[in-house]
Amino acid sequence: MAPKLIADNVYWVGAIDYDRRQFHGLSTPHGSTYNAYLVVGEKTALIDGVDRRFADEMLANLREVTDPRRLDVVVCNHSEPDHSGTLPRIMELAPQAPVYATARCIEMLKGTYQAAWDFHPAKEGDALDLGGLQLRFIDAPFLHWPDTMFTYLPQRQLLFSCDFLSTHVASVHRFDDEMANFMVESAKYYAYILRPFLKPVLRGLDKMASLELHMVAPSHGPVLRSRFRELADAYRRWSLNQTRLRVTIIYASIWDSTEALARTLASALDAEGVEVALFNVRNADLAEMLLSAVESRALLLGSCTVVGGPYPDFHSLLALLKGLHLEGRLGAAFGSFGWGGGAVNKLSTALQEAGLQVLDAGLDVKLAPGAQEKARCREFARELAALVRAQPATDGRVAPARPGASG
Ligand code: FEO
Repeated sequence: MAPKLIADNVYWVGAIDYDRRQFHGLSTPHGSTYNAYLVVGEKTALIDGVDRRFADEMLANLREVTDPRRLDVVVCNHSEPDHSGTLPRIMELAPQAPVYATARCIEMLKGTYQAAWDFHPAKEGDALDLGGLQLRFIDAPFLHWPDTMFTYLPQRQLLFSCDFLSTHVASVHRFDDEMANFMVESAKYYAYILRPFLKPVLRGLDKMASLELHMVAPSHGPVLRSRFRELADAYRRWSLNQTRLRVTIIYASIWDSTEALARTLASALDAEGVEVALFNVRNADLAEMLLSAVESRALLLGSCTVVGGPYPDFHSLLALLKGLHLEGRLGAAFGSFGWGGGAVNKLSTALQEAGLQVLDAGLDVKLAPGAQEKARCREFARELAALVRAQPATDGRVAPARPGASG
């Protein structure tokens, strides 16, 4: 991939990883990009780097625009190696270049690379004159690590937002309006990577809103020139916990009994006019389940019992549950067991520990559910539907009345 001019004097010089299928547990079915940018004023500034496996690709891109040995400035917005991995190669070529990063980032770069480069701590509001162009640094801690900052180029109304508003998708295209729908992956990125940092996300959005913006250039995926406001609005909606009239049901079943409970619950909720998202934890995408839970008013977890607890594939979901910030939402556990049971209790405890208001569904069923247990599913679904319907609509939609209700 060749470098690409994304704005006057600003080049994308990153790398495209078509083969990446996972990013710390987040599935990346469409690969990813590592976006590095070169700003060319009277001085040249390299903003971020790429995964070290792609150092040659990035250096080739850089060389098409400038001689990397003559770089004047290096900016590191975040020390995670998918962005800093090429710094040792760059600094070997341009040891004279000062490296601007937050103090925390400098500490992490020193620890990661045993680096003794010419570090300059960048503080909120600091400006760096490139001659005709200026870089301004904006603290953005926990977006995604505590070391993170944004870099703003006011003359182009361009924000280099690092992981914030990123998307894992590999493409020859660089701009959002050149690409097929990538927003599902953007949403998954939010749910998996940034959701644990709810307040920092809102602070980041506020800082973004205070800037004149024409374009946002994140560290992964498309440069956003058409849809950054749309994505920022979605981040705000999710982070303010604006939910839909939806219940997410996630289950695991070995011999269909827990699945029968899950499907009966889903069908009864649907009959009540409540949107249902049903996932089999054994084959569903983890980030899609997390995102659905974030958008829902209630989360139901169902499992058969395996060694006194839920099916092992629940492990990743439960490990991430506390980071989802579902405090105050409704939750319930259900399941079928063969002899001793245990899964329902453990799932209830996990929901409680994640701060949900746990309801007793009365659905801890021995072996296959019969007519009585299925009737209890329908009864619980009606109770739950009434509760979620009573919650104020926070997504701007009007909650539908219960089908058949009048008045
Ligand atoms: Fe894309 Fe937090 O690194």
